Amino acid sequence: METLTITRPDDCHLHVRNGAILKAVLPHTARQFARAVIMPNLKPPVTTVAQALAYRDEILQAIPEGVTFTPLMTLYLTASTPIEEIKRAAECEYIHAFKLYPAGATTNSDAGVADVTKIHSLLAALEKYDLPLLIHGEVTDEDCDIFDRERVFIERYLLEIVANFPALRIVLEHVTTKEAVEFVESASDKISATITPQHLLFNRNAMLAGGIKPHYYCLPILKRETHRLALVRAATSGNPKFFLGTDSAPHLTDLKENSCGCAGCYSALAALELYAEAFESVNALDKLEGFASFYGADFYGLPRNIDSVTLEKSDWIIPAIYDGITPLKAGKLLHWKMG
Ligand code: NCD
Ligand code: ZN
Repeated sequence: METLTITRPDDCHLHVRNGAILKAVLPHTARQFARAVIMPNLKPPVTTVAQALAYRDEILQAIPEGVTFTPLMTLYLTASTPIEEIKRAAECEYIHAFKLYPAGATTNSDAGVADVTKIHSLLAALEKYDLPLLIHGEVTDEDCDIFDRERVFIERYLLEIVANFPALRIVLEHVTTKEAVEFVESASDKISATITPQHLLFNRNAMLAGGIKPHYYCLPILKRETHRLALVRAATSGNPKFFLGTDSAPHLTDLKENSCGCAGCYSALAALELYAEAFESVNALDKLEGFASFYGADFYGLPRNIDSVTLEKSDWIIPAIYDGITPLKAGKLLHWKMG
């Protein structure tokens, strides 16, 4: 049987929620990944070190017996985050970054930053304490077309942030456009990006053609094929600025199959297999290990993992529903399977 063995990967962008959903979804990530950068957009958001440490404990409790998994905690940046809290976070070994959500950009982002141009002192503190800033890079103006929101965020805000804070480490999260790829490629080595499996595998037709398919709806929204091709080229290029972040974002099925459905694709069930399909589609499986297992760790200044995982070339069907959550590609055939 054809197999692929790579160093155990890290997921550099993950939503695991809390309570019952956390218990249901965490084992899937912990089975595949050694570590994951945990997003702080809970209700209420994780804005303090104390909250992040309590959330970390809850995550540790949800790891199945015998499995080793390390959550890398992040804090939710708000316009009123005290500089003291940034300092405390920098001094805490369990906190690895701050997450910037423009207010209203996505799920649980109401407490986010309303005016990104008015947080200079916070960005200066992050730069000073060398804490990475993870950015949901979309403008929220009602008059900006949803398909343009990432490009406009880069033009309107990100170029200026990068120019004003040249030593600030930034991850432009879940990039979805050719313009984002080009921005990251041309920026300094402080600037990197994560890429999700859904943006590598699908364009917006998957969500909108032949009926509306809410399980393909996430933010930033799937774009046209030209953008997908640019993302595949970046992910498989061997450029260490681009690394794996699933953005697996579980929502109960009835909240997605709804007249106002939630944004987020639940990909953790078969994350690595989904990436393998994307890489194989352009004969680039040899580039998967760097993207999945090396470049994210290097960016965060963490040691690369030592153990490995093996995928087998073996057909299987993703379950239609799992604990009330519909996975990405539910009921569809996959060609790689983690043993
Ligand atoms: C995420 C979620 O549900 O928390 N949703 C999504 O569509 N990606 C939030 C986010 O990362 O935008
Ligand atoms: Zn996310």
